[in-house]
Amino acid sequence: MEMLIAANWKMHKTAAEAVAFCERIKVAEGRLTGVEVLLCAPFTALAAAGKALEGSTVKLGAQNMFWEEKGAFTGEIAPLMLQEFGTEYVILGHSERRRIMGEDDAMVRRKLETALRNRLKPILCVGETEAEQERGETDAVLERQVSAALKGLDPAAVAGLVVAYEPVWAIGTGKAASPADAAAAAEVIKSAAARCVGAAAVETMRVLYGGSVTPANIGSFVALPQIHGALVGGASLEADSFINLIIAAREAVS
Ligand code: PGA
Repeated sequence: MEMLIAANWKMHKTAAEAVAFCERIKVAEGRLTGVEVLLCAPFTALAAAGKALEGSTVKLGAQNMFWEEKGAFTGEIAPLMLQEFGTEYVILGHSERRRIMGEDDAMVRRKLETALRNRLKPILCVGETEAEQERGETDAVLERQVSAALKGLDPAAVAGLVVAYEPVWAIGTGKAASPADAAAAAEVIKSAAARCVGAAAVETMRVLYGGSVTPANIGSFVALPQIHGALVGGASLEADSFINLIIAAREAVS
């Protein structure tokens, strides 16, 4: 399975800054072969980034999407609006959206179904908070989030799904999960997914790790058979840092 290294720029980068980043990464592209590289840009930068990435193997993603295809939903973004710019992936259920914007499991489920129906590839984010971890509830939280998202879905539709394990306490804190804990979480995610859509559909599922991933620690995650890449926030904002991170990931698996 090809490794996926995804940048999550969050609420950073104007369109001009996104284009400058794309130009930098295109120059380095020859050193990034064998890795699927994805840039999840803010909505307002998608058009410019999509154009800048034309002819490149680097892919474009969005960070959120609404669950309806059109209608009276002021301020929301529909799948077709993302696809117009060549957007291939969409992050769904990121913990910042769950925690700050009040997205719950039911909303994430609706978004996931809409993305799949519209042939956008979802990156489903799951992960426990610090309090949940301290109470020993990590596995239960992951099982709840995965089954709320996947239960009853057509196994064919979820083939190739990407799930990102992002412990909330590790995001932006400089305190990454241990590789062993990330591997254990990935196993829990896969078992929960298999109960929902069957073992065959899960065979093509990629589990990413996210939360304080850096060029220095990426190797210890992607070297694990359970982890197929990373969702990277802070270390994806500077082109040099992100390129170094991808090169380190490549080296760890080669
Ligand atoms: P971080 O963010 O790499 O800055 O911890 C990861 C994420 O939120 O996806």
